[in-house]
Amino acid sequence: MTFAKSGKTVIARRGEGVIRVAEANGIAKDYTCRNGECGSCRCKLLSGEVGMPDSLL
Ligand code: FES
Repeated sequence: MTFAKSGKTVIARRGEGVIRVAEANGIAKDYTCRNGECGSCRCKLLSGEVGMPDSLL
């Protein structure tokens, strides 16, 4: 996973959330609720694929 603003590329496990990956690698990322309700962690996918658990749809 590459974070555009920081330019940092890190390894993310399948199913691991963006906020969790950012925190684990010292990358600043806005968030509030951490459960898909507020949208403050929203980010733009520049390439690749992303999935969302059915529980968050
Ligand atoms: S922190 Fe991601 S939706 Fe609220």
